[in-house]
Amino acid sequence: MKIGIVGLGFVGLSLTSVLASKGYDVVGIDTDKEKCKKINDFKIPFFEPDLEKTLKNGFRKKLTITDNFISLKDCDIIFITVGTPQKSNGEIQLSMIKNATQEIGKIIKNSKKTPIIFLKSTVIPGVAQNTVSRILEKFSGKKAGREFGLVSNPEFLQETTAIRDTKFPHVVILGGNRTKFMDKAKKFLSKLHPGVPIIVTNHQTAEIIKYANNSFLATKISFINQLSNICQNIPGANVDDVASAIGLDPRIGKLFLNAGPGYGGSCLPKDVKAIMNFSSKAGVSPTFLSAVEKINQQQIENILKIIKNTCGSIKNKKITVLGLAFKPHTDDIRDSISLKIIKELLKNQAKITVHDPMAIENTRTKFKDKITYENSISLALKDSNCCIIMTAWPEYSKIQNKILKNMKNKIVIDSRRILKNSKLDCTYIALGIGK
Ligand code: UGA
Repeated sequence: MKIGIVGLGFVGLSLTSVLASKGYDVVGIDTDKEKCKKINDFKIPFFEPDLEKTLKNGFRKKLTITDNFISLKDCDIIFITVGTPQKSNGEIQLSMIKNATQEIGKIIKNSKKTPIIFLKSTVIPGVAQNTVSRILEKFSGKKAGREFGLVSNPEFLQETTAIRDTKFPHVVILGGNRTKFMDKAKKFLSKLHPGVPIIVTNHQTAEIIKYANNSFLATKISFINQLSNICQNIPGANVDDVASAIGLDPRIGKLFLNAGPGYGGSCLPKDVKAIMNFSSKAGVSPTFLSAVEKINQQQIENILKIIKNTCGSIKNKKITVLGLAFKPHTDDIRDSISLKIIKELLKNQAKITVHDPMAIENTRTKFKDKITYENSISLALKDSNCCIIMTAWPEYSKIQNKILKNMKNKIVIDSRRILKNSKLDCTYIALGIGK
């Protein structure tokens, strides 16, 4: 069985590597020639734990990486994993989906195969049927459900655990018509993920499931962040104890209740906005999701207020930002709250010094020489008027008095409550802990 994967971002490259390492004959395709060259040289364009090892393992078996769609000709299964970036009004851009689909259509026109095409990219309800299926039929001259199958198959992997999540998903969603292709899709995925629940539904339900999942995760985060702000105003209250306690109620669950500066990354912020936009167009006012988004936005304002209240005027003050990546163990800074805070601080003419174990180079491309970059926490804190911990990197939890001693004003704002040393000689303000 030959498998093609179109779009080699986090989702596509993880899937390519996992399937190839399992011994499938795999071709990974991306229109970015430079990216393909890098991958062929084992240089992964982003950091993801275990990806390099899995990819190398795949290359030892039957894996090809190319920018040429012709390699899809003899594929039995094709996954579409291209990105759906955001427009300024919150809608998703379908240009990459349309291009990929056209190319796939042209290839299957002359292919003897009757492939199943899995749509993994995150798309709003209706895209599989109204856009992808139509383009495939137009460019291939073949009929969906008869000469090829189209199955919506949203992805739930998280960055930093992408390989594990690809191998062991908690659920498999298959959306589409109940044709022989759906039976084959189910058979293939149940063999790949034995014991994992498979939900078979139609395209539009599969599409909304992905948005429901991500917007519910965002909801949990905004909920706990609102609670965190309330706790901060109750002397002695601690949001982590609240989260642990309510998390033990099986109806609530303990995950995604870690209060912080708000949710970032390339998915949660984008997906909440996209579903809000879709909802408004459908005539359903997204009251609830607007609140989720508003709370996320307010976290930035809250943090700025805390900095201003503790430091007084921040003009020309040296403020150290520890953590740039949108979460630990990645170099990804897309939609990172840390970067939003830096932008605001720069507007207030603060002098910013930043540290991150992995994301400095990506941040440099955004802020260039507007801020100072340090590879050591100690140097980043030297002469600083205020330090703010934005990302829960383990190294920040180990900060000791000897590292803080060179600060000009020993003020530490811990947005993640990771500083465990209760004997720190500084003004310590932790989000979610009432003074
Ligand atoms: C998210 C979802 O978790 C995945 O299930 C989904 O497949 C993916 O989006 C996607 O749509 O592709 P990811 O973007 O990797 O995954 O990031 P998360 O781990 O969900 O974290 C998102 C943000 O929420 C981060 O800024 C993180 O720090 C924040 N967060 C998360 C919290 O502030 N508190 C929490 O308890 C959990």
